Amino acid sequence: TLDIDPAAAGPDLPRSMYGVFFEDINHAADGGLYGELVRNRSFEFDPADNSSFTGLTAWTVSPNGGTARVLDDAGRLNERNRRYLKLDVTGGSFGVTNGGYNAGFAIERGKQYDFSVWARGDSAAPLTANLTDAAGAVLARPVMVTAQAGQWVKYTGTFTAREPSTTGRLTVTAGASVSLDMVSLFPRDTYKNRPNGLRRDLAEKIAALEPGFVRFPGGCLVNTGSHEAYEAPDWERRRSYQWKDTIGPVEERATNANFWGYNQSYGLGYFEYFQFAEDIGAMALPVVPALVTGCGQNQATDDPELLRRHVQDTLDLIEFANGPADSPWGARRAQMGHPEPFGLTHLGVGNEENLPDEFFARFTEFREAINERYPEITVISNSGPDDAGATFDRAWELNRAADVDMVDEHYYNSPQWFLENNNRYDTYDRQGSKVFLGEYASQDNRFANSLAEAAFMTGLERNADVVRLASYAPLLADRDNNQWRPDMIWFTNSASWGSTSYETQKLFMTNVGDRVVPSEASTTPIVNGPITGAVGLSTWATSARYDDVTVTAADGTGLFADDFSAGAGKWTNISGRGNWTVDGGSYLQSDVAAENTMVTAGDPRWQNYDLTVKATKEAG
Ligand code: AHR
Repeated sequence: TLDIDPAAAGPDLPRSMYGVFFEDINHAADGGLYGELVRNRSFEFDPADNSSFTGLTAWTVSPNGGTARVLDDAGRLNERNRRYLKLDVTGGSFGVTNGGYNAGFAIERGKQYDFSVWARGDSAAPLTANLTDAAGAVLARPVMVTAQAGQWVKYTGTFTAREPSTTGRLTVTAGASVSLDMVSLFPRDTYKNRPNGLRRDLAEKIAALEPGFVRFPGGCLVNTGSHEAYEAPDWERRRSYQWKDTIGPVEERATNANFWGYNQSYGLGYFEYFQFAEDIGAMALPVVPALVTGCGQNQATDDPELLRRHVQDTLDLIEFANGPADSPWGARRAQMGHPEPFGLTHLGVGNEENLPDEFFARFTEFREAINERYPEITVISNSGPDDAGATFDRAWELNRAADVDMVDEHYYNSPQWFLENNNRYDTYDRQGSKVFLGEYASQDNRFANSLAEAAFMTGLERNADVVRLASYAPLLADRDNNQWRPDMIWFTNSASWGSTSYETQKLFMTNVGDRVVPSEASTTPIVNGPITGAVGLSTWATSARYDDVTVTAADGTGLFADDFSAGAGKWTNISGRGNWTVDGGSYLQSDVAAENTMVTAGDPRWQNYDLTVKATKEAG
């Protein structure tokens, strides 16, 4: 029975309550949401993807006709894009082939694919780009250009695919010695047809959720940074995400190895994140590093100058998002094609720091500087990696005492935990800091998980005055190359599908109400007729035979009895099952002639019964 009082005033449900959390984990960016098909287009990938480091991850070299070397010298394209490929051609022609991610590029018949390359010939160098499948069958008419001698120039061309393939390859062949960089193959068909845009099917699946916000770029990923090729040997550049590395022309973005053990190109960077959030009508919610590494690393840097620079970078980020087009960072946004401000309102500092006091000291510096310059921005703090325990309690204590606007909580747990914690927020302080549930999931991708999550989300909604934002995590996963499960949306190069958790999220996200209507639920045990099921036993045995094996419930009640045979002298799997029936609150054994055939189920809920297996008689 539901008792509902429609007139009673429950908390408002913010339109933006449910969002998504995008992190480049599970190859979610390069090889995933980011449309680029060529892997390691700038020859920067370091040993994270290829332990025998050559700079040629995902590239193969023609067996004859020259040599291919990845160089890191003064001949580079620019200071941030430090390595390039030198082809010294000794035969008639010589080249390299890129295989993309996993099986290769997904190519669709009739679609256009834009090829581009930066090249510098030793002398005028003819270049041919070929689109083929893995077996070498040609998929489109080749693109041919001639690289000028002596200077880097960008060359472009377009393939129109005559045939489809899921194993596409791009081969660039040179007729004379040449340097190459930023070899790119980009589908013309991206989400909203944006150049340097997003893979359509994945972006559409995210858009279909109608997210209220997009949290990005991590996660543990914010505690990761540029690799040494960027000539930044200092501690923090390699351990914290630098948003400024991810904007501007793609050939000037520094590639780096990320927290999840592979390289990221930053082709999907801060501008693209803001643009995507805007395209899907969501609030952009960036997270900046707090100079205390979380995610198991637990280090805090004590460098006031460094902290000042990061605080300044964060102020610059807000200007990049919101400043007028004639402000220094607003101008950078305008140059990238978005003169209007993006309208940033929320920003997170830090992710899962396990040193609450050290974190909070640094967070305070960020918060004060932001509040002073941009008082309209909500600065979101953190509660550490656990949903309970001393560091979590201490983090909340500090956040509450400082009256922080919002605190980011994360938890991954069993479905049972989610069912048992529906009331988690019922007792949170209604006047204190609000909750941003930035990451949560029950630990599998089965129906039971999504059901438990749905049940839990009713508790989030009931407490919408406390929980203002919530996002399931992680969002995307490459089926063939992932670091974390479960995930919301799965993909291969050519297909994508939502998990059952995706469907749960979609159900809630596309049906956000205006406000909570207080209600009371009460139940009476009802069993409509008998329900039958089976209890099974499976074990390994070596003896010849067991008769009258009984399976009993914890209270000693017999659930079934059976005889088992195991091959003499060798391990054999033996198994058996007995039927039972629930009828009017009782368990009845139906097919085993034995005593004690009834137990009373004293509670209308499903319960676990511990089973004891006992061989009462050994025979033979
Ligand atoms: O969502 C995956 C990871 O889980 C995130 O990077 C991190 O914040 C959490 O531990």
